[in-house]
Amino acid sequence: MAEFTKIEEPYTSKDGVRLVWQGIDEDDSDVVILGKEELDSLLEILSKEKTGKVELEDEFSSILVNSDISQFRLKDERYLEADTKLLREKILEYMKIPHEEQSIQVKSNEFYPTSERSSKSKNSESKKQSLLSAILGSQEKKISESEYFRIISTRRSTRKFDKTHLVEDWKVDKILAAADTAPSAGNFQGFEVFYIKNKKIKQALVEAANRQPYVDAPIVLVFCMNPSRVKMDFPPETLTKFSLQDATLAAAYAQLAASALELSSIWIGMLDEEKVKKILGTDLQPSSILCIGYPDKRRPPKSRRKLRDLIHVLES
Ligand SMILES: Cc1cc2nc3c(=O)[nH]c(=O)nc-3n(C[C@H](O)[C@H](O)[C@H](O)COP(=O)(O)O)c2cc1C
Repeated sequence: MAEFTKIEEPYTSKDGVRLVWQGIDEDDSDVVILGKEELDSLLEILSKEKTGKVELEDEFSSILVNSDISQFRLKDERYLEADTKLLREKILEYMKIPHEEQSIQVKSNEFYPTSERSSKSKNSESKKQSLLSAILGSQEKKISESEYFRIISTRRSTRKFDKTHLVEDWKVDKILAAADTAPSAGNFQGFEVFYIKNKKIKQALVEAANRQPYVDAPIVLVFCMNPSRVKMDFPPETLTKFSLQDATLAAAYAQLAASALELSSIWIGMLDEEKVKKILGTDLQPSSILCIGYPDKRRPPKSRRKLRDLIHVLES
């Protein structure tokens, strides 16, 4: 079972926390996000060394703080435990960090606070802002919310598929069609997709992918580069680079489409290109294998570095 290890800031707000449980296997890590009010209630109990219960916003989940172990009873039958002493230490330590006012609120019943409206704006004229400018900016802003952001921000790789749950053909069709919509250099689509249905080929790909067993997944797509399709007057190395980017983008589009269809996936980059070529019977260079299926368990997304650390804004 994963162990409660640390507390992180939620990505876009300082008004809440991400509580992180780390398992031995990276797939066993888990996260609970608390909004401001939930955090305040938890803090109230912990700081006074009392016992008590915090009801979470989703109306299903709760935290039971006992003197020794705190129990997190979460929806989707998730159950987590944390040593109360450690939880208290971590929360009190976290609360020492100065909290700036931010307009983006954490919704505790979502895994990742992609976007949220602020009703606190003093400016009656509420303008639509990009998520990035809202995060990087300091003023209160209003952001539009969409299904797309929910999909990208809740995606989580899986290496454990529920093999009893067959992936519907229409979903595979949609994933393949999504790959076809990806942009490509000159629109030449310098890539090919091999859809592997054959069990023996899947098993051979496991071997070619550094013996990663989950490559034998319900749906296996191998994305290959095809620079000969890129009919542009550039040096061969540029065409190769374009075809790698084309194949990668197509796989990324397929991966997101899988998430939109309630499936999960794992991207395999660790592969022996020559072995894969031989297995597929092609001269085309493979760029990645996308393994897709229903996950054995839905997991929250992994942490990322803060956007402020990732984005380097260059102004005049
Ligand atoms: C270029 C690339 C190569 C990867 N190769 C592997 C791989 O060979 N085996 C594997 O288990 N995961 C692989 N992954 C998956 C990453 O480990 C995973 O995306 C990362 O830990 C972030 O987790 P998330 O997808 O749940 O956000 C790869 C991902 C990318 C983008």
